[in-house]
Parts: sequence; C-alpha cells; structure tokens
Amino acid sequence: MSNSVILITGACGFLGGLLARTLLSHSAAQATDVKLILADVVQPKNAQGQNTLAIQANLTDPAQADALFNTAFGVPDTVYCLHGIMSRGSEDNFDLGIKVNVDSVRSLLDAARHAGERTGTPIKFIFASSLAVYGGPLPDIVTPDTIATPQSAYGAAKLIDELFINEYTRRGLVDGRILRLPTIAVRPGPPAAASSAFISAIIREPLQGADTTCPIGDSPASPALDALALWLASPETTVRNFILARDVPASAFASHTRVVCLPGFTATVRDELNALERIAGPEAVARIRFEDDPVNRRIVGSWPARFDNAYALSLGFVADEGGMVPIVQRFKDQLEAASQA
Ligand SMILES: NC(=O)c1ccc[n+]([C@@H]2O[C@H](COP(=O)([O-])OP(=O)(O)OC[C@H]3O[C@@H](n4cnc5c(N)ncnc54)[C@H](O)[C@@H]3O)[C@@H](O)[C@H]2O)c1
Ligand SMILES: *[C@@H]1O[C@H](CO)[C@@H](O)[C@H](O)[C@H]1NC(C)=O
Repeated sequence: MSNSVILITGACGFLGGLLARTLLSHSAAQATDVKLILADVVQPKNAQGQNTLAIQANLTDPAQADALFNTAFGVPDTVYCLHGIMSRGSEDNFDLGIKVNVDSVRSLLDAARHAGERTGTPIKFIFASSLAVYGGPLPDIVTPDTIATPQSAYGAAKLIDELFINEYTRRGLVDGRILRLPTIAVRPGPPAAASSAFISAIIREPLQGADTTCPIGDSPASPALDALALWLASPETTVRNFILARDVPASAFASHTRVVCLPGFTATVRDELNALERIAGPEAVARIRFEDDPVNRRIVGSWPARFDNAYALSLGFVADEGGMVPIVQRFKDQLEAASQA
C-alpha cells in the first residue's frame, strides 16, 4: 500500500466512510503513505489531515467526475466506486436512479480510463455491486454460473455497470474488480432508503432503546419471518474484502469476468430476532412492530439467500463466522463504546 492514492466516491456513505477510516488507520499503523481523495455529493466531513482531500461533487456531471483525476494528489491508482442511490430510492425515482446508478458510473469509468491512459497504467476500478442483480427463478444455491436477471431498477443498473466494467477491463482500459455484496448488517445511523433497511433496523433500533417497524409479516408469529431468508455480511468483513480486492492479482480472476460474489451467510428474519433476543432479551424484540409491506417484501424476497462462497474464498476474500449472534454482540459493544467515548 505504499505511496498509493485512492479515490473513494460515496465517501460520506456508510461503506465509503468506514473504508476511508479503515484505510487511514491501516496506513498509520503500518507507517505507509496512503492518500485519500474523498468525493461525495454531500460535502465530505471525514477528511482529516494532509493525507485526505475532500471534494464535493455531483457525479451525474461528467466534468465533476473528470476533476477527481486532476487534483493535487495526482492520478489515483485505485478507485472505489461506492456512490449510488439505494434500492428503494431508485425504484421510487427511476430517472434519478438511472442517472446516478448508471450514467454517473459510466462517466467515472471514462474519467478513470482517460487518466490511466495518461499514466500508462490502467486504474484499479473496484465497484460495489449487489446481490440485487439476481432475481426471477433461481437455483437453491447461486454459483458463479448463475445468470443474473434483476427484478428491480437498482439491480438492473448494477448489472449494466458490471457489463461496462468488464468490457473496459477486457480492453485494458481499467483493471476492474466487481464485488457483488451481500446485504450488510448491522448498518449504523439513521434508516436508509433501501428495501433492505429493516434488516439492520430491527437490530439497531431496539438496541438503542427505540421502536421500529418490520415490513415482513403482520405479527411476531408470522411464518413470513421464517420464509424470508437473507444473504448477509457484516460491515467489518465487507470493508476488509474491499481492501483485499486491491491485492488480488489480475491473473487470479476467471478470464471471462471480474465479477465476484463476496462471501456471506444465510439468516432468516427469525434468526435475526432470535439473535437479538439472545443478546438483548425479549424486551428488545418487543420494540418491533410488524406491518407487512408487500412492495418491500417482494423486492427483498426476489434476492437470493444462498451462494457458493468457494470462488471468492479461493481469491483470498474472507467470510463472517458464527452467523448473526456475534454480529449483534459486536454492534451492541460498539454502541456501548460510543456512548462512553
Ligand atoms: N449497504 C449495503 O447493504 C449494500 C449492499 C450491496 C451493495 N451496496 C453498494 O455499496 C455502495 C455503498 O453503499 P452504502 O451502504 O455505503 O450507501 P450510502 O447510501 O450510505 O452511500 C452512498 C453515498 O453516495 C452518495 N451519492 C449519491 N448520489 C451521488 C451523486 N450524484 N454524486 C456523488 N455522490 C452521490 C450519497 O451522498 C451517499 O453518501 C453503493 O453503491 C451500494 O449500492 C451496499
Ligand atoms: C445531481 O445532479 C442531478 C442533475 O444531473 C440532479 O437531478 C440531482 O438532484 C443532483 N443531486 C443532488 C443531491 O444535488
């Protein structure tokens, strides 16, 4: 990681922010010189010190995407493309979703291509895709051969981006690494405009003593809670995999695609409630109100819940171990540490 310049788009977001903090603390611990360019449509506040540059940019404007490759830090060797409008947001506002989730990714890719042509080295373009690219009839276990047929605007946009990144990579214009993320749990902060938001909220809100609504099923006894299986990963493991993605040798990927489904694990909504009860007691579960939302249930229910992790593990990516219980415990510990700080 010595002397690297890394651009993160969506740096004010949940994963972009966590990635930036993690890269900076690694670089401090290893005394290496990593410079971060943090870009977001919201003014990045997480820039501290001389090794970070915060740039407010609406990436739907190609000129603003280009400018990220012409800063005082020089041309980045790696781009983490993490900006976007989340699933429910792009379902409800289709045109803005396409603008941000497709058009702006394409202009960022072009900007990276041209900057790489100037330096003579293709830029590593690491992209956060999603299991939302899958939908329709699916096998019991998704493998690298499973065809992606998205059933949402968000998933369709991610798949279009993947095709561009693969083609630019095949032509040597960028060095793409496409990571299809499981759903991340537990996500801190205020609820997001994602269909998957409840997956974190039903853990996070009760642990903070707040009430929340679960859009799956009408009561705690609903069979829908057992029927809805989820494919999950923790934030820490996901960011660790983002960092590992830079170091996978290009030759290690399958020759026909840079898509990798990051490792995850399967849990039902019921498994989440059981983990919450085990760590925080029945009074925590009692904070959840059940109010079935068919649109939300349809979107999340169209995502696959079981994958074969073998290919991702063979590339050196890592998986969470122990299911929901350690993740709920860790989130509770983090809340307690934050309240004492
Ligand atoms: N969190 C998950 O469960 C999950 C799962 C799969 C994939 N992903 C993908 O990972 C990436 C990061 O996810 P996240 O959870 O951190 O999302 P987030 O919503 O927290 O962050 C996205 C960021 O993008 C920024 N953004 C939106 N429009 C922009 C624009 N026009 N120009 C510049 N910035 C813009 C937002 O301001 C926000 O800070 C996204 O691409 C998301 O699709 C996330
Ligand atoms: C970004 O620009 C687009 C126009 O291309 C606009 O629709 C959108 O609202 C802008 N986003 C923000 C957050 O200002």
